[in-house]
Amino acid sequence: MPFEPNLDPMSLATELSGHHLIDGKLVAPKNSKTFDVINPATGKVIGQAADGDADDVAIAVDIAKKAQKDWAERPARERGKLVAECGRVLMAHTEELGRLVALESGKALRTESRVEASVLADMFVFFGGLASELKGETVPFNPNMMTLTTREAVGVVGAIIPWNVPLLLMAIKVAPALVAGNTVVVKSAEDTPLTVLRVCQIMQEILPAGVLNILSGFGPSCGGPLVEHKDVKKVSFTGSVETGRTVYKAAAEKLIPVTLELGGKSPMIVMDDADLDKAVAGAIGGMRFTRQGQSCTASSRMLVHEKLHDEFVKRLIDKVNTLKMGNPLDEETDIGTIINRKQFDKVCGYIDIGEKEGATKHELSALPADAELSDGLFVRPVIFTNVDPNARIAREEIFGPVACVFKFKTFEEALELANDSDFGLAATVWTTDLKTALVATKRLEAGFVQVNQNLVVQPNLSYGGIKLSGLGKEASLESMLEHFTYKKTVILNME
Ligand code: NAI
Ligand code: MG
Repeated sequence: MPFEPNLDPMSLATELSGHHLIDGKLVAPKNSKTFDVINPATGKVIGQAADGDADDVAIAVDIAKKAQKDWAERPARERGKLVAECGRVLMAHTEELGRLVALESGKALRTESRVEASVLADMFVFFGGLASELKGETVPFNPNMMTLTTREAVGVVGAIIPWNVPLLLMAIKVAPALVAGNTVVVKSAEDTPLTVLRVCQIMQEILPAGVLNILSGFGPSCGGPLVEHKDVKKVSFTGSVETGRTVYKAAAEKLIPVTLELGGKSPMIVMDDADLDKAVAGAIGGMRFTRQGQSCTASSRMLVHEKLHDEFVKRLIDKVNTLKMGNPLDEETDIGTIINRKQFDKVCGYIDIGEKEGATKHELSALPADAELSDGLFVRPVIFTNVDPNARIAREEIFGPVACVFKFKTFEEALELANDSDFGLAATVWTTDLKTALVATKRLEAGFVQVNQNLVVQPNLSYGGIKLSGLGKEASLESMLEHFTYKKTVILNME
């Protein structure tokens, strides 16, 4: 294997520093500028990211455009085989990628980063197997005319990814885009440029040069030019609502399709007949406390029947208190850090707002004692009770380890509270009654509804929200066909 896994993330960070990957090679940005990549657990600089701009975008898009013709002309199954092969090679790098993403993002290795690295590989294997599904239909239009449809690649895809789950969110864009015959230019997030660069480097062992390229840089100076480039024919974006709007407007100018996966404020409804142990475990998993709550699907609004409310809160507090905060690379650590100072201040600001708004604050777990971590961006998990449903902490996305618990009396009241949100990404309901489960799944306004469980993104389950949570689906066959191909109608006159 040309790239042996490197299990020392510090040396890997140094090796990758200051580069984009264009046309199969690590290259420095044209302007030679870089910015620091920081380990949020220590505040120390671990490497450099290329500070790419419109010049680098122009080079990468040009290369991707040239590579696209040959790539699209290969048999679909051959593309699929290569993408699946990327997944198998990436699987052998799971530990390496897990460690590097833990170092640059602060996400705990055992509970988060290693898991993400293995899901990344699985997504490439999954989409690689779907190549033969890029089929069309025959249409009974006229007996003298053979009428059919085909699925065509859109061209160069721009993929803009965030820092919270950079590997998985890159995979659900890149894998289907490539299988469908497109080439891709990825723009990584400012805080997590290195692990995704490493993924693209590893994939160069298998893919033809120019098919997959990755740039790092800041949103407005590197992401903006990528969206605006005339040869980028589709943009897939995950991030904030505000930036999603900017991307959508720029795409509208060019009249190109976009997929937007934005924020959330997802409800979980706990009925009076729920299995309480399962619901509490589901609340902890769903709230992603081990990821410092940095998840768009976080179950940050917990609506609990008044009969179970106090017991639910008590058990939740007890359980969260057992979670250990510490060095993300340490196997004993359950909870790592917040990604950067700006997000840290934002989350702490919301905790202050919650107190000022009159909610009852329960601050849990404990900060790490280790002196090396004294500048680390650790926030203790917070559960707010007695929350006014119109309070800011109840309505706005916090993107931190902050959950609001509400009390309800009737099922109807719970559904109304759950749907009273600007967002509509995910929802769960916890009940042992079949009718309640069925009615809830029908009436909850969200793109992903689950009963008695809280799974994350899975291969072939369409993922994506409604309302301010975004547009379009990802991770499934449907997402590949709808978002990374266009349908061509063909008529052959046989007269
Ligand atoms: P962001 O939306 O600004 O960043 C996401 C990506 O978009 C990054 O790669 C960034 O460089 C890029 N970007 C920024 N401005 C751009 C522009 N003008 N044109 C093109 N690309 C641009 O989000 P940020 O600042 O990292 O986080 C802010 C908030 O966004 C969080 O507090 C959270 O509420 C939400 N968020 C939601 C995520 C999700 O999974 N839906 C992921 C990350 C953040
Ligand atoms: Mg960082």
